[in-house]
Amino acid sequence: MAPPARRGFLMPTLIIVGALWGDEAKGKLVDVLAEGADYTVRFSGGNNAGHTVRLGEKVFRFHLLPTGFLRPGCTAVIGGGMVVCPKSLLHEIEEVSALAGSTGNLLVSGSAHVVMPWHERLDCLEESLRAEGIGTTRKGIGPAYEDKAGRRGIRMFDFIHPERFRTRLREILPVKNSLLKAMGGEDDLNEDAILEEYLPLAERVRPYVTDAEHHLAEAVGAGRRILFEGAQGAMLDLDYGTYPYVTSSHPTAGGACMGTGLPPTRVDAVLGVCVAYATRVGSGPFPTELDDETGERIRQAGREFGTTTGRPRRCGWLDLVALRYSAQVNGFTSLAVTRADVLSGFQEVRLCTAYDLDGERTQRFPTDTDALARAKPVYETLPGWSGDISAIRTYDALPEALRRFLARIEEFVGVPIAVVSTGADRSEVILHHPELLW
Ligand code: IMO
Ligand code: MG
Repeated sequence: MAPPARRGFLMPTLIIVGALWGDEAKGKLVDVLAEGADYTVRFSGGNNAGHTVRLGEKVFRFHLLPTGFLRPGCTAVIGGGMVVCPKSLLHEIEEVSALAGSTGNLLVSGSAHVVMPWHERLDCLEESLRAEGIGTTRKGIGPAYEDKAGRRGIRMFDFIHPERFRTRLREILPVKNSLLKAMGGEDDLNEDAILEEYLPLAERVRPYVTDAEHHLAEAVGAGRRILFEGAQGAMLDLDYGTYPYVTSSHPTAGGACMGTGLPPTRVDAVLGVCVAYATRVGSGPFPTELDDETGERIRQAGREFGTTTGRPRRCGWLDLVALRYSAQVNGFTSLAVTRADVLSGFQEVRLCTAYDLDGERTQRFPTDTDALARAKPVYETLPGWSGDISAIRTYDALPEALRRFLARIEEFVGVPIAVVSTGADRSEVILHHPELLW
């Protein structure tokens, strides 16, 4: 049998994954790489994500929509692995469309689960009942995935059929109300009120809902260029992250297959995105966290405050032990390093290249979260760089100290750096090895 036709690209499917704890500027990266993409696809999470794209004066904030929605000619897909709040989705479609003028197409998988009002309430109550909160975004993401795994969720296919939606609601709501009450919730959710609000939302969502898996399979078969836009980060993966301080889905590369129906044999490239330092929002171990002036300096310089919740992000040095583990789990074929501009002006910069764990030195990332919490970072110190690097467009023109820093990352992780981002704008990027991407 002849191999399937490909449109002249060597690598038409590219998965972009946040390498550590999220907020790696994936939105900007996807936007840059979406030029010429036929599809951009979100595969995990929901509106807990916050992906920002800056086009000159205009700032676009995406939570549910793939950022490729900005590119006319590109089809944006919300994969079946996602959990979708219909209010948030419709609001975002309106907001982005108004600001952008024209947009691409949108397909929403009928297999995606709907985030309902009880999910948000349960998320908030659970957080308040935990001894140490996870620091969730309180968008109902965890409870929605729980219902999916418990086979009591409402899928988009159910949601857009009023009778099916009504029946599911009638089955589910009394149970949820009992649960909310048992957890200290104050008032009942009312079936009529939910129907009144959600039936019109379902009408508006219906035109987008389809069997997106088949569209994607056809696109893969035809050799179309497809970009899979990871949300969150690999260290927040339900299985491979710092459990229980994780999100309830799979932001790792494997999640792109599970969340869209992309066969693992059709993954061409996996790009891991990391910041030149490290950040984390919410609780959980973060060995290289800087709870000092340097951490504050990074937070201010990088404007490290959450896009979704506004919370200040925890900041620290780049953790190469964690990054190498992430590369191992995701199979990164290349790396993108973002916000290199933020560290500009530091006399010295650091990279964590080992941990001290219970008196022993190790370079093996502890997958037991308790052990990770005991790990003390061992650093290599490198000379810093200075000046405004945002206008630099070639790798060789970067300050030598920055190139040495990047070379050390490549060497330690064993993955080549394909992209360096030098600022927030679409134009502020160096495509050092584009051949590793598409
Ligand atoms: P983007 O796509 C950073 C974190 C939350 C919390 C944990 C669980 O912008 O990189 P959840 O609401 O998902 O149940 O919260 O996961 N978290 C993120 N952190 N960036 C994100 O997305 C995140 N999405 C969830 O802060 O610690
Ligand atoms: Mg974010």
